[in-house]
Amino acid sequence: MKILCVLYKGGKSALQEPRLLSTVENSLGIGPWLKSLGHEYIVTDDKEGPNSVFQRELPDTDVLITTPFHPAYLTGDLIRNKAKKLKLALTAGVGSDHVDLTAANEKKISVFEVTGSNVTSVAEHVVMEMLNLVRNFVAAHEMSERGDWDVSAIARNAYDIEGKTIGTLGAGRIGRLVLSRLRPFNPKELLYYDYNPLPDDIATELGARHVPDLPEFLGQCDVVTVNAPLHDGTRGLINGALLQHFKKGAWLVNTARGAICDRISIAEALESGQLNGYAGDVWDVQPAPKDHPWRTMKNPLGGGNAMTPHYSGTTLDAQKRYADGTRDILERWFQGEAQVPANVIVSDGQYATKSYGKHK
Ligand code: NAI
Repeated sequence: MKILCVLYKGGKSALQEPRLLSTVENSLGIGPWLKSLGHEYIVTDDKEGPNSVFQRELPDTDVLITTPFHPAYLTGDLIRNKAKKLKLALTAGVGSDHVDLTAANEKKISVFEVTGSNVTSVAEHVVMEMLNLVRNFVAAHEMSERGDWDVSAIARNAYDIEGKTIGTLGAGRIGRLVLSRLRPFNPKELLYYDYNPLPDDIATELGARHVPDLPEFLGQCDVVTVNAPLHDGTRGLINGALLQHFKKGAWLVNTARGAICDRISIAEALESGQLNGYAGDVWDVQPAPKDHPWRTMKNPLGGGNAMTPHYSGTTLDAQKRYADGTRDILERWFQGEAQVPANVIVSDGQYATKSYGKHK
């Protein structure tokens, strides 16, 4: 089989650190194994435009491996007109929105991902980002680097997480972990919004209350964290109109997908003070352009921005888990064995998950 894999270039870091498995250089650690089985394994970071290695190799590729960190966008057009032999699109990680799932279903291409592989990594990151924003950490650190010392300028916008109402939009694997990790901070209340409500016993254990109306949910939260996949029902969901329903001065953490939030509306809300802070590691296009407003936007007090490149789910611990998971999925695929059900996003022309919107 021909297996095409799109990863980011790791450069010097990848040569010095072999555990950086999701780099072109280290190729998920599966190159020798695939070759020993007689498969052709092509690995590239070149993914944009018709002359990219990705698009040139696609027509006779059987299996495509991609990651959300350096996404090769497998659009409907590519699926319908170029990916003539493709049978499997495998996401080494979690989140398969870079694949047009409607077109994949139409062409009966299976889409699998390594479900759960980096959810702990992301949940930890979400809690860190909340602390960064609520405690006004980035502005304080920048002041320290500059050589300045003005405690009041920082403290005037620094708070505790304790006593705040915190809500997750999406209460799947990551959303739940975030809630459970927040409990020891003694928040005023933990809320969630999800069209797949949690079983009662789990909601009770987490101490989380379901608010089924989105504007009502947002209006109650001091801090909102987004943990839903990107699909037709979430693309551009947090826009100028919806931001009006947030409490004035709320903090928003989005490590789910950049395109769930409208680029301009977020920058405007931060700059006007409607949001006191915005943090995350996901962008509406990756790599993000140099002039993307989320790189430099600030609240009226000159802080409130804790954006980073997309790395929350790609710690070295996570890379090992999703590289191992990728190999497991491939082994099952080659041997015609059943996949772990949770890893199946679409198969046989149908959605196997309830997480990508409501489908019949
Ligand atoms: P999951 O499938 O376990 O849970 C997603 C939840 O979101 C489900 O309960 C689903 O019902 C809910 N949901 C879907 N649409 C919704 C909507 N319109 N409103 C409210 N809730 C909605 O997925 P998991 O593992 O929790 O991951 C969530 C997302 O996080 C992934 O799809 C991916 O986009 C992102 N992610 C980001 C990473 C990073 O490195 N920044 C790494 C891993 C995941």
